[in-house]
Amino acid sequence: MHGASVSLRELGKSYGPVPAVERLAIDIRPGEFLSLLGPSGSGKTTLLMMVAGFERPDTGAIWIGDRNITQVAPNRRDIGMVFQRYALFPHMTVAENVAFPLRMRGFPKTRISQSVAEALSLVQLEGLEKRLPAQLSGGQQQRVAVARALVFEPAVLLMDEPLGALDKKLREQMQIEIKRLQQSLGITVIYVTHDQEEALTMSDRIAVLRDGYLEQVGSPADLYDAPATAFVADFIGKMNFLDGICRKLGADCLEVDLGRSGTIILPQQPVASAPPLQQGQRVRLAVRPERMKLDRHDDRKISGVIEAVIFAGASHTFLIRLAGGEIIHVQTQATHGGSLPQEGDRIGFVIPDDAVHVFPQAEC
Ligand SMILES: Nc1ncnc2c1ncn2[C@@H]1O[C@H](COP(=O)(O)OP(=O)(O)OP(=O)(O)O)[C@@H](O)[C@H]1O
Ligand SMILES: [Mg+2]
Repeated sequence: MHGASVSLRELGKSYGPVPAVERLAIDIRPGEFLSLLGPSGSGKTTLLMMVAGFERPDTGAIWIGDRNITQVAPNRRDIGMVFQRYALFPHMTVAENVAFPLRMRGFPKTRISQSVAEALSLVQLEGLEKRLPAQLSGGQQQRVAVARALVFEPAVLLMDEPLGALDKKLREQMQIEIKRLQQSLGITVIYVTHDQEEALTMSDRIAVLRDGYLEQVGSPADLYDAPATAFVADFIGKMNFLDGICRKLGADCLEVDLGRSGTIILPQQPVASAPPLQQGQRVRLAVRPERMKLDRHDDRKISGVIEAVIFAGASHTFLIRLAGGEIIHVQTQATHGGSLPQEGDRIGFVIPDDAVHVFPQAEC
């Protein structure tokens, strides 16, 4: 088994007047694990259904390797699929469920039983061949669905929230199993989830969707460290936002007026925004909680009052209310000994210049 490249070229799909996916383009490498991440209704399932061939795109094309498969029937696309609900046939045994795609494709009986045995051993379900789906746990049913999707050795595997029905512990265990399977088979995976942690753990790259549009595609580190939009910044990981107005704008300096909360001066314009910022423009600053540092000297330009301290094992999170009313989260490593700032203390904080992302507010 080996993965193939998948090229989505300006794909678009509307349901009546409702646009579900709009001019979406992504090139996926052979053997890559790509996640589609976005809130409910952002077009993830629609996109996957078009790749699988169960929905017809209104515009654009889908290529697998050097084949344009836009018009090709689902069972001729060399694609396996695990659906949002496992969609096992309830009246068929485990072995019959897994054999189904091969029977559909007219494989000979001996070949079928050999491939079914291999697929079941791949997902560690040997011995359960004769059970019905209702006699399996959620995790086992999910494995059957994976075995059924892999049994005809497709070059590409599509998975639509395959772990959505499982509890957290089993979900984390299955994430590792799926990742291991994908790596050992070298298969290309397109994986839908609305769980950002799941996407960050499993993916080579993540495509963030919003209202049918691609907001950004990049590695987990790209999205975390250099979000292209305020939406991505908010969706991936925890983020503090501060709204303000650009006051002074020099070649090497940006001053942002936060109203009653103070002024932040950044020595250079750390902005990836095009077009460039204008004086007087409304901007949204974004800073990760773990990039902020507490500073007990309260003569800092920006300070606030600690509203709460949350202990979470390895770290503390301080919720600090600024003069303008914004609540900022500051996360620090837990230290032993020494006194921690307490609820009600006034405290300043330091924001390293390279920790600030600036977004023009029109985009927010
Ligand atoms: N068969 C359909 N008929 C009409 N509208 C549809 C249909 N399927 C999806 N839609 C609409 O298209 C948009 C995208 O839906 P889609 O199911 O692709 O979202 P999703 O990202 O998979 O969401 P979820 O996380 O809830 O599964 C939504 O606005 C949805 O209401
Ligand atoms: Mg969906």
